Amino acid sequence: MSLSLPKDKIRILLLEGIDGSAVGQFEEAGYTNVETAPGTLPDDELARRLEDVHFVGIRSRTKLTEQVLGAARKLAAVGCFCIGTDQVATTAARRLGIPVFNAPYGNTRSVAELVLAEIILLMRGVPARNAAAHRGEWLKSSEGSHEVRGKTLGIVGYGHIGMQLGVLAEGLGMQVVFFDTAPRLPLGNARAAASLDEVLGAADVLTLHVPDTDATRGMIGERELGRMRPGSHVINASRGGVVDISALAAAIRSGHLGGAAVDVFPQEPASTREPFASELQGLDNVLLTPHIGGSTHEAQQNIAIDVATKLIQYSDNGSTVGAVNFPEVSLPDHVSARRILHIHRNEPGVLTAVNRVLAANQVNIAGQYLQTLPDVGYVVMDVETDDVAPLLDGLAALDATIRTRWLR
Ligand code: NAI
Repeated sequence: MSLSLPKDKIRILLLEGIDGSAVGQFEEAGYTNVETAPGTLPDDELARRLEDVHFVGIRSRTKLTEQVLGAARKLAAVGCFCIGTDQVATTAARRLGIPVFNAPYGNTRSVAELVLAEIILLMRGVPARNAAAHRGEWLKSSEGSHEVRGKTLGIVGYGHIGMQLGVLAEGLGMQVVFFDTAPRLPLGNARAAASLDEVLGAADVLTLHVPDTDATRGMIGERELGRMRPGSHVINASRGGVVDISALAAAIRSGHLGGAAVDVFPQEPASTREPFASELQGLDNVLLTPHIGGSTHEAQQNIAIDVATKLIQYSDNGSTVGAVNFPEVSLPDHVSARRILHIHRNEPGVLTAVNRVLAANQVNIAGQYLQTLPDVGYVVMDVETDDVAPLLDGLAALDATIRTRWLR
């Protein structure tokens, strides 16, 4: 495929009610041919609509299978306007020459704010008093209620959310201790602990912000909860498998823990119509939320702007920074020379063959940028010629070529 269309001819389809700021972002960059749909499309309609589309934006419910992607002949890139990309056959997309972008950190602040609120509510014993008040009971006492100022927040996983939360918590006068398996520079007055156990023993509130991996699944169980201080609290807004729910319920029932706030669960209903069940139900001092840590209007806006910007950059200058499935090439602005974007199977000798095509046409290369993954390579060339047609023909004829695109 070689595509160098005027911007108003580049067709963009945004599904699943993606926040309107994405359209604004595209329009600001000169892309006016943007269609939107409030929901998903039935499979046959999706396949039909994708035949003519250059960029598609989806959220988590649109499934882009290998078959659907293979039939979408004009599709240049996919934008997942969400965090996860499981709904897209990303390896197949790469082999078809289609980068997939997402917004892994668009909702960082939203999670941090929810956790901050939960820290205060738990330390004040609000969940239990709220539950009692709904039943007509009046638990007016200071028993078990504490200010957060001067207390210790233990953060496990000091990444985007953990760091942001640490800064906010210090603003409230908390002391922050964190544990992370990667070396992390502490922000503010936060202190890195040498082990998970050190954080468990120090925390008045323990909060988890790790990814879902073999190492983190079940990382907080009976042993770990037993090492926590009596009356302390646990918050999990990371992934459902990180905390052993039975062990947590037991630690709350026994009174060892003062309370907990849980936003993510090992089994979560697939939709709002399905019922939710958890061993933590009925425990007054446990806040239960339906995986809404990142669900705010602001996060939706951030995600829309972030992913639209990545798609625009790929369209405008070929940059694949932030692609989840593609060799990442960060490029200077495309100003004067013609830019050729060549996606190929990563086989020995491809770059030599590409350069031979240019040499045979006596075209000078002003800049060349290459990145590869084991199966796919992406080379971007700024070439000093106005006539790219013979180059595109030559590149198309190479056995390893997947796609070629050029920018005016
Ligand atoms: P991140 O990738 O920026 O940070 C994760 C940190 O955990 C990294 O610093 C990593 O080195 C550390 N880590 C990994 N394995 C570890 C281990 N075994 N022990 C200690 N540290 C370990 O991720 P981010 O954006 O901060 O997200 C954290 C979690 O929050 C993820 O699981 C994500 O899925 C979840 N999340 C939940 C949301 C919700 O709605 N509740 C919304 C957004 C994210």
